[in-house]
Amino acid sequence: METGGPTVEQARRLVTEIPGPRSRALHERRLAAVASGVGSVLPVYVAAAGGGVVVDVDGNSLIDLASGIAVTTVGNSAPAVVARVQEQVAAFTHTCFMVAPYEGYVEVCEALAELTPGDHHKKAALFNSGAEAVENAVKIARVAPGRDAVVVFDHGYHGRTNLTMAMTAKNMPYKQGFGPFAGEVYRAPMSYPLRDGLTGAEAAARAIDVIDKQVGASNVACVVVEPVLGEGGFIVPAPGFLPAVADWCRERGILYVADEIQSGMCRTGAWFASEHEGVVPDLVTVAKGVAGGLPLAAVVGRAEVVDAPHAGGLGGTYGGNPVACAAALGAIEEMREHDLVARATAIGERLTARLTALAAEHPVVTEVRGRGAMQAIELCVPGTTEPDAARTAAVSAWCHAQGVLTLTCGTWGNVVRFLPPLAIGDDLLDEALDVVAEAFAATA
Ligand SMILES: Cc1ncc(COP(=O)(O)O)c(C=O)c1O
Repeated sequence: METGGPTVEQARRLVTEIPGPRSRALHERRLAAVASGVGSVLPVYVAAAGGGVVVDVDGNSLIDLASGIAVTTVGNSAPAVVARVQEQVAAFTHTCFMVAPYEGYVEVCEALAELTPGDHHKKAALFNSGAEAVENAVKIARVAPGRDAVVVFDHGYHGRTNLTMAMTAKNMPYKQGFGPFAGEVYRAPMSYPLRDGLTGAEAAARAIDVIDKQVGASNVACVVVEPVLGEGGFIVPAPGFLPAVADWCRERGILYVADEIQSGMCRTGAWFASEHEGVVPDLVTVAKGVAGGLPLAAVVGRAEVVDAPHAGGLGGTYGGNPVACAAALGAIEEMREHDLVARATAIGERLTARLTALAAEHPVVTEVRGRGAMQAIELCVPGTTEPDAARTAAVSAWCHAQGVLTLTCGTWGNVVRFLPPLAIGDDLLDEALDVVAEAFAATA
């Protein structure tokens, strides 16, 4: 199934070296004009993209295993997104929902209330970025109980604003030199089955003990957790970890916030990854895949919790911009129409089979893990859990040179992650995985 823009041929084709001369010329311009603190994984400059393919300014077609970091889940320029955005952009571009509201915002909130876990009464507020959604989830969580402490986990990633830097675990490149960071943020140990060997119950007991002893449950406003960790390495907590933490929160009046910014919106073979273990969060943060590439984010949750802040306490000039809302309604339409939950599951099965075979052949691949179309391999020195970041970088660079856009992640930079658009065809996915296999042989 290919739902991508009809103008982009679904094939890998290299006509120059990567990056090609036009990309290199653009890169020279960029070096003079763009802040060097903003990086790019692969400096090929994009001319078009659709389905599972990105076309650069030199005419090279690359297979996309990144989706712009889990954003273009429905494929780039997906038809329903394009149609709704075009209609909206011609009607009006902005009034500010806080000045004069419009239907699209309400419709997105209604849809997210329906799609997030649980059938209780939910409400939502819309923002521009994932970090902004996380910031607002914390504002909402703090206001009612009058408690300040926010608990996050090892290997967690929540963004690059001041509060979310404090919540993010990894120092380089996200935090180094940017402090001081927001206070009242505490970190608990995460379940990381490859490295701690604990069951979900044991890992939850360990985390709860740290929170109890170091913070005190009565001081905690919320626990914020990624149900599948994103930047931290696509770690899937051991079964039972998330339900145990959620239960403990409920018993102590602590809000359980699922940061589903990377894992949500069909990516893991469910609308939201919390569903895999039947967890119903009090609040869910949503961004990335929700709007097919336009900037939109949301906090969705229990109506009485979301309604806690006073009128005017939440908002922002652009939050829930009408064009971004139209894009979200288009993306949700694509997801429903093409059953992208099922497609993510099928892609996950394909990825798992191929990556497991790869691991059998190359002992540096220590673990294959993930959910649905959010899969990864962790590379370690064979027979150990010592991270092999150098091999990870070499494999990824080799894939890039062959026209496959891969991403790495992980606290130690030793994880290759696979986040194809769900609009990618099986043939293209197989071809990309052939290249990944060749990369392991070529860098051995
Ligand atoms: C789980 C999670 N939370 C928050 C963020 C921050 O989102 P944004 O980059 O849109 O601010 C990300 C981005 O990667 C993420 O993966």
